[in-house]
Amino acid sequence: MSKQWNVGVIGCGHIFDAYARLAKIFAPIKLVACADIDMAAAQRRGAEYGLDALSMEALLARPDIDAVINLTNPASHAAVTGAILAAGKHAYSEKPLALSLEDANALLAQADKAGLLIGFAPDTFLGGAHQMARRLIDEGRIGTIKSGSAHFMNHGMEDWHPNPSPYYQVGAGPVLDMGPYYISALVNLLGPVKRVVALASKFFEQREVTAAGPNQGTVVKVGTPTTSQALLEFASGAQIHFSVSYDNWGHGHSNPIELHGTKASLMVPDPNFFGGQLQIIDADGSHISNVEETTFGRQNWTWPSGNVVGNYRGLGLVDLLDAADKGRQPRASGLFARHVLEILLGIIRSADEGRFVDITSTVQRPPLLAEADAAPFKAANAPLAFAG
Ligand SMILES: NC(=O)c1ccc[n+]([C@@H]2O[C@H](COP(=O)([O-])OP(=O)(O)OC[C@H]3O[C@@H](n4cnc5c(N)ncnc54)[C@H](O)[C@@H]3O)[C@@H](O)[C@H]2O)c1
Repeated sequence: MSKQWNVGVIGCGHIFDAYARLAKIFAPIKLVACADIDMAAAQRRGAEYGLDALSMEALLARPDIDAVINLTNPASHAAVTGAILAAGKHAYSEKPLALSLEDANALLAQADKAGLLIGFAPDTFLGGAHQMARRLIDEGRIGTIKSGSAHFMNHGMEDWHPNPSPYYQVGAGPVLDMGPYYISALVNLLGPVKRVVALASKFFEQREVTAAGPNQGTVVKVGTPTTSQALLEFASGAQIHFSVSYDNWGHGHSNPIELHGTKASLMVPDPNFFGGQLQIIDADGSHISNVEETTFGRQNWTWPSGNVVGNYRGLGLVDLLDAADKGRQPRASGLFARHVLEILLGIIRSADEGRFVDITSTVQRPPLLAEADAAPFKAANAPLAFAG
């Protein structure tokens, strides 16, 4: 990649901090400005990271900004991504890309018409661990994958997120909030999904915010199911059990994703992050793959709990800008995210309507991000460790 791209950010909330800090890892991008509907939030983040704090209109009018990251709440994703494209800039948005397929299709059409690229989180499937899993599958190490499971289970975010309410409303819930990580990881590994069936429930009608901040002590009314269990049938024939919940006090599923093939079983690490350990179990026993040696799989982010993960959020944007440079499609593309969104909405609809839902779109798995492609994305002086 030859040039460095100037990037603006719209949405200066909780996850902004991770994007702003991790941007220093990537050679091809430079964050220059930020905006938020709440000007005070933009000013706070601008001062913290040495960025120009602007109104959204002023940021989008800046001719020196090539691409904009959309870190607003899901309900604003489609409108803000549309405004970024209308301003003639490439757009990269947090998940989900929109809350309806109509809005998703409109964004894809708008980007096509303008000759711009759109891309969407999660980009965690581009991390060293998930790319290594993909390579092992493509090399035939696991055989034909017939079944598997994916689990995300916790007790929600009102004890740590200062603004948890949007996560409990229509357009979020665990399916649309955490589901994108798991479904994107699975589609990258197994290809498109053909149909889904699901059940959903809600353990609690309201949640009390205990996280420090202005909302502490307030009560959030829960407007969406908080536990869902789905079965996904992939076009490949693989059948996967997918379970997500914000209602569970704990669980014993030590592998977030398990895939069972005719030659081996593959244990895939947490798709919320880029690193972790891969385990293959076959007739000869258990084998561990060394993800630490990959460019974007090394564990670099230590949580206050002491838990260390690989965090390279923004890698999808860097790949998108490389794609713009080279005239190719990005890996975390709009088409990919649209298929993932249709699966997620299908899971919600299946539970609502009590029936199987066919997934009408299909998508090709993105090309592997080979080490030779990934390595130039990393700045020579990239920070190696972060305190989360
Ligand atoms: N918090 C996390 O750990 C996390 C992790 C990964 C992804 N995400 C995703 O990132 C996005 C943001 O999450 P968050 O936790 O930072 O939310 P947040 O509520 O902390 O911040 C969102 C910010 O967007 C601003 N905003 C909302 N609508 C806007 C609009 N129309 N124009 C301009 N600004 C607007 C809000 O004022 C707020 O400052 C969500 O899509 C979420 O799913 C969050």
